Amino acid sequence: MNAITRLAAVISFASLLPLSAVAADPGTVEVLHWWTSGGEAKAVETLKEQVKKDGFVWKDNAVAGGGGAAAMTVLKTRAISGNPPAAAQIKGPDIQEWGALGLLTELDDVSKANHWDALLPKQVADIMKYDGHYVAVPVNIHRVNWLWINPQVFEKAGAKVPTTLDELFAAADTLKAAGFTAFAHGGQPWQDSTVFEDLALSILGNKGYHAAFVELDEQALTGEKMVEVFKTLQRLGTYMDPNRAGRDWNIAAAEVISGKAGMQIMGDWAKSEWTAAGKVAGKDYLCVAFPGTQGSFTYNIDSLAMFKLKNENDIKAQNDLAKVALEPEFQTVFNQNKGSLPVRQDMDMSLFDACTQKSSVDFKDAEKGNGLQPSMAHNMATSLAVQGAIFDVVTNFLNDPKADPATAVKQLSSAIKSAK
Ligand code: GAL
Repeated sequence: MNAITRLAAVISFASLLPLSAVAADPGTVEVLHWWTSGGEAKAVETLKEQVKKDGFVWKDNAVAGGGGAAAMTVLKTRAISGNPPAAAQIKGPDIQEWGALGLLTELDDVSKANHWDALLPKQVADIMKYDGHYVAVPVNIHRVNWLWINPQVFEKAGAKVPTTLDELFAAADTLKAAGFTAFAHGGQPWQDSTVFEDLALSILGNKGYHAAFVELDEQALTGEKMVEVFKTLQRLGTYMDPNRAGRDWNIAAAEVISGKAGMQIMGDWAKSEWTAAGKVAGKDYLCVAFPGTQGSFTYNIDSLAMFKLKNENDIKAQNDLAKVALEPEFQTVFNQNKGSLPVRQDMDMSLFDACTQKSSVDFKDAEKGNGLQPSMAHNMATSLAVQGAIFDVVTNFLNDPKADPATAVKQLSSAIKSAK
């Protein structure tokens, strides 16, 4: 072989490389999410496994930080630099904002082929669509207005399971007197506002909650009842551990699981920690509606929004993820681990534990009246800008034991006005 033919052979071999590399490229789906607690990681593992089984590569982009504030910051930076992931955990009205930027891809083929319109409640489907097209796939329905109880702690202290706010404070007094932390809590803005929204729902009712956090109605935001919400929050704060600043929600859950604390006010992702610890719903722990919110269901729907991609194989991987997310097997195993309700309406609920079964019944009951309400603290009710304004006021208030509830209400309304 002379030099020329050797060179030609090398060139023709090299020209084959990209092709064979493409053929071997199985397609990658990068997923940005904040499911990092022990129980949540178990849940997300089921999605990873299925995508891998289908022959694609899962690139995990887990950004620690409950409630997702840190994940959203990472997502914005990635999007601004023109390099968004294939899928990201984006929820509620925020999906519309990303859609309006023209960055999300329409999932017409996969949604039609898999009959999403028939599988999903209309209310849920509407949230997932931008301009009439699916741009996100929902994976579950979380209920936020729950109270988690360790019944052994209650028994030791002689506390009674509360159904009203008065009973809640009575139970807290009894637990405190017996040397337990009444409420395990992490001092992070989204956790503070989770408690705040539960109290608002309990005190304002469905209509008042809706007026305040969905309509952002001035009267509802500044009325006497809202002052009462802040007063009650202040009182509740006195039963929380003063060293709670920055504590993650799953660490707070662990305090109830281990018997250090009696209660946690948290959405049903808290159940993922009980499940991961091998505890049984209805026996080792109780889930009751947050006192005074029986009949209501504040929903928080986790969804993966899909970004526009160029690589054909990656698009295939992205479509596979979208398809898998709504398949019955995934819906069952993922939600058993995550603590949430399957978002598909045709699932066999006997496969779920007592808390999820109760959640399912309560969802249907709430749906009949005006009890289904979007969670403000979990990105379902307002823009992230308005939510951030509420978080700031609530957290500053809760961190200052001498803060004045009437002043907080004024701050709330003006913060919301400037964020709108
Ligand atoms: C919620 C999210 C849940 C759970 C929780 C704690 O906003 O919807 O899936 O992750 O935060 O991080």
